[in-house]
Amino acid sequence: MAAPFPAPLDPDLEGRILTPALLVDLGAARRNIEAVLRLTAGPARWRPHVKTAKIPEVLALYARAGVRRFKCATAREADVLAGVLEAESTPSGDVLLAHHLHGRGLDRLAELATRWPGVTFSTLAESVEQVAEIPPGIGVFVDVDLGMARTGIDVNAGDEIRAIARAAGDRFRGLHAYDGHRYEADLAERARLIHASYDELVSLAAALRQAGLCPAEVITAGTPAFPAALKHIGLATLPGSVHRVSPGTVVYHDLRSVEQLPDLEAEFAATVLTRVASLPGRDRVTCDAGSKAIEGTGPDRIAEVIDHPHLKAAGQSEEHTVFVAEGGQRPARGALLRLIPGHVCPTVNLATHALLLEDGRLIGRAEVAARGHEALA
Ligand SMILES: Cc1ncc(COP(=O)(O)O)c(C=O)c1O
Repeated sequence: MAAPFPAPLDPDLEGRILTPALLVDLGAARRNIEAVLRLTAGPARWRPHVKTAKIPEVLALYARAGVRRFKCATAREADVLAGVLEAESTPSGDVLLAHHLHGRGLDRLAELATRWPGVTFSTLAESVEQVAEIPPGIGVFVDVDLGMARTGIDVNAGDEIRAIARAAGDRFRGLHAYDGHRYEADLAERARLIHASYDELVSLAAALRQAGLCPAEVITAGTPAFPAALKHIGLATLPGSVHRVSPGTVVYHDLRSVEQLPDLEAEFAATVLTRVASLPGRDRVTCDAGSKAIEGTGPDRIAEVIDHPHLKAAGQSEEHTVFVAEGGQRPARGALLRLIPGHVCPTVNLATHALLLEDGRLIGRAEVAARGHEALA
């Protein structure tokens, strides 16, 4: 099913909003969370990555839907998330900081564990030496490489993985195997490749179990891989282990996700409102949201313009995106345009604030509190 367009903006609002502005529709985000929970048959098998959500009001939607376990990439995300879990009185909140921390990063995680005693914290390790540096009280997931070749130890390096799990002792929580490289256009081929690598993961978990090092949790899959991941019988039935998937982009959804998972039932919950600033040449339309308001430097399409499918993004500078009108009329100078981001995660990270909507109606203004990095000294 193609993603339904967001609820139209309340017309009273249109003249009031200073552009460019990030709009986040909580109704749509709530329904996206519910859609994943239908696929995972409840919260037990979902550890969402919150690098996309970033806004406390959206993180609270997860907590209210019964999600207890989360993944994040930065200390700021971990801090904001833990604060939300405490404010929502979420029992057994569990935050995996899924990055390789060194030096001050490890101290910061220990500080967060002290600051939020009601939340369980863990992180990743890929060597015995790294485990020795992880502060006491912080859980350890061994980071396993299923072929993405970004971080982690090869899934077939059983001896090394056993040694790390043994070094972690009772802090060993399980295996983290993110397969973000699996987004082949052919969905059947993608599922076949995902399942082949999960067979190796199942063998690894069995070998660890035999060595008395049973991984309590095995985490795989972002958005493009998670529907196939949930269908792997071996992981779903691992003795002594729970398999969890970790899609995060799905909370807001974007054009890239539509391309990667055309059947996913999700709505565009985060859009960027912009105005036509200029009409250069005969067919150009330039709006006031540039690369500082909507991400366009990556390989993905910059954006689609709601109700103006003939406007094709042609390029960006910091405060401008230029569209070419391929047939059809150009909107007037000053007209409002609503953009669906190609890649929503970095787009949300660009905004300091978002206007919160509930099915098109403005309900407030929120800080994108988990954006950026802390840069503490
Ligand atoms: C380690 C890790 N887990 C999960 C995710 C979530 O994946 P997605 O953005 O496809 O939902 C990411 C995304 O970058 C990631 O790096």
